[in-house]
Amino acid sequence: MKLVNAARPAAALFSVATAVTVIFASLTGCSALGTVRQKADHAGLTYGTAIQAGDILDPDTKKFIVKNFNLIVPENTMKWANLRPTKKFWNWSDMDHMVEFAEQNRIAMKGHTFVWHQQNPPYVSGLQTREEALPLLIEQITEVMKRYRGRIREYDVANEVLNEDGTLRNTVWLRTIGPEYIDVAFKAARAADPDAKLLLNDYSNEYAGTAKGDAFYELVRGMVERGIPIDGVGLQLHMIAENPLRRDALEENIARFNALGLYVSFTEVDVRILMPVTPEKEAEQTAFYEGLLEAATGAEGAGSFILWGWRDAKSWIPATFAGYGSAHPFDVKGKQKPLYDAMVKVISNAKR
Ligand code: XIL
Repeated sequence: MKLVNAARPAAALFSVATAVTVIFASLTGCSALGTVRQKADHAGLTYGTAIQAGDILDPDTKKFIVKNFNLIVPENTMKWANLRPTKKFWNWSDMDHMVEFAEQNRIAMKGHTFVWHQQNPPYVSGLQTREEALPLLIEQITEVMKRYRGRIREYDVANEVLNEDGTLRNTVWLRTIGPEYIDVAFKAARAADPDAKLLLNDYSNEYAGTAKGDAFYELVRGMVERGIPIDGVGLQLHMIAENPLRRDALEENIARFNALGLYVSFTEVDVRILMPVTPEKEAEQTAFYEGLLEAATGAEGAGSFILWGWRDAKSWIPATFAGYGSAHPFDVKGKQKPLYDAMVKVISNAKR
């Protein structure tokens, strides 16, 4: 009798504590069972996000990142136009700050990106000759990778080099240096930091049996056969909720890269919705994220899952894909969507 009575206040206290924890968890991504990041670490999953330079200046956002992710990648900070806006001026401060933040919080740091056809300053996009372009590209890669040697774990050395039909994209690098610019970039990267992992990254390359997916695979296979130093491939995975995930074609793709001795990273995950949002569309989106996370954490999985941002409030989606939005696990007010709980559940259940 006494025991029963005594249990009452304890139960009440417990439920208050539980409620506080639940509210706290929904704001910070942390629960009584540990943070999402601890769960990801336990599952052997690299679970990351793109961040903006200002994110680590804001104490709350900083805390959120530390609790939730074990890898960060600069969304824009390392891109050529931002890092080196003129040939002589290197804007190192934001990158240095991010690398320090990552180190202080035992978060892995990823670099993104050297070779790209976007976000280049005029002195790069206007290059005319191989004689100018080749040393500049090598210099860019060497300067950055030597500076952060041993501190940045992996890099997207080249990004989006293919067209939708699988041919090489007509970029300043292709026009000036020729198709071997990709090999040149990877060799320069390996020489600059032999321990960093080197990735080729692209979008619409996630499924085996598609024109771009197969061309991407053939491009990478050729690099491996020529002895070019490449360690992994990036599947960006900017996806649309209403087109269901094709797990078989994704897993077939992962398996064929693994067979080449390469690892596969899901590098820029977001799943956009054709607005307005409805419960049906949200259910499709949740299923999509769950399927991707399962593919990442499965026995033959990618093992690396990076969100291209976690919140709709700072999303690149609405400005890029007209009519689309709500692509991330946190809404425009910063509130966690049910989708995030579903993701945490997959991570919690995973063991690689
Ligand atoms: C995007 C950023 O998210 C935007 O803020 C920026 O305005 C444009 O670039 N593929 C990539 C990323 O590899 O670098 C892009 O990031 C999104 C598509």
